[in-house]
Amino acid sequence: SQSLRIGVAGLGTVGASVVRMIARRREAMLASGLDLTVTAVCARDRSRDRGLDLSGVEWFEDPVAMARSSAVDCVVELMGGAEGAAKDTVEAALAAGKPVVTANKALLAKHGAALAAAAEKAGVALTYEAAVAGGIPVIKALREGLAGNKVERVYGILNGTCNYILSRMEREGLTFEACLKDAQALGYAEADPTFDVEGFDTAHKLAILTSLAFGTQVDAEGVSVEGISRVQPLDLRMADELGYRIKLLGVAQATAAGIEQRVHPTMVPKSSAIAQVMGVTNAVTIDADAVGELTLIGPGAGGEATASAVFGDIADVARRILRPTFGVAAATMAPPPRAEMQRHEGGY
Ligand code: NDP
Ligand code: HSE
Repeated sequence: SQSLRIGVAGLGTVGASVVRMIARRREAMLASGLDLTVTAVCARDRSRDRGLDLSGVEWFEDPVAMARSSAVDCVVELMGGAEGAAKDTVEAALAAGKPVVTANKALLAKHGAALAAAAEKAGVALTYEAAVAGGIPVIKALREGLAGNKVERVYGILNGTCNYILSRMEREGLTFEACLKDAQALGYAEADPTFDVEGFDTAHKLAILTSLAFGTQVDAEGVSVEGISRVQPLDLRMADELGYRIKLLGVAQATAAGIEQRVHPTMVPKSSAIAQVMGVTNAVTIDADAVGELTLIGPGAGGEATASAVFGDIADVARRILRPTFGVAAATMAPPPRAEMQRHEGGY
């Protein structure tokens, strides 16, 4: 089998789960001819015990140096933040002609167009399945499975932290603060939870979805945003008495005036499907001309669920680079001759 040497920048909730998943899935991937190996990692605090076996893995203090290292073929950015280390690392990797996998919606919402152009110029992949709705493969659904559709509307619950908070406030009568604290302890919240509770994280994800659904440039500035920080227990009780629940929704739809994008707490009838989505679960509904209405529901945050989406992107990169003809048939044929690592011409 051929090897993809992976550098993981960021070993927090998501990064540590990704490193563990790559080790756990090693045999299964080898069986299909793909050798995924973490050769380099980077985080701020080297002394912290992360419960990871990093023997034989090179530790970098500087994620940009890791991205440029000749020991790394593919860079996985899991540090977060729209500027600074994350942006520099992704830019350095693309400039070095290396594919990038990231879960960083803040970065993509602000610099997605420029980074996509850099990836195109370099002829390498920039993939970001985990950036929207955690473990739900909605990016691949929109980009691949629904490519034949004209999308009219895309909307849903895109922030696990907010849905977790609203669900527990409603069901258990807990305070906003207590629920947020738990969401942080569970690894759901952003490093700065203002992004979650003020709706910006939902706006970032919505802007990414909008660009894919409507074929436009990412425009996070164009999203009208209101979060859940002012939702009171009384609001939830009143909504309940009237037969509603309050959900933080992101909505993008085509209108005569252009694409409208908004994020705000919304009263949804308790009998509706979206009202049943509780806890850290996310839901994305796509209205499209050919397929009609389609809803994807699943875990929206958390280490393992998010690692699942990151891993899917890494496996995709590996297939494109190492096995351009990969597929079930290829996996059951004799293993291909060992070849030098080469980039799949054309990229995507
Ligand atoms: P964490 O805060 O748990 O982890 C961030 C990691 O990045 C830490 O290991 C930290 O190092 C490292 N880091 C931060 N800055 C630097 C730097 N300048 N140089 C080197 N290392 C750095 O974040 P998450 O794992 O929760 O999130 C990572 C990314 O994934 C973010 O973009 C987030 O938005 C996204 N995401 C998160 C989800 C979740 O459920 N948590 C779901 C979907 C996406 P150290 O540990 O030493 O402090
Ligand atoms: N903080 C984010 C959330 C992580 O709660 O949805 C997943 O993107």
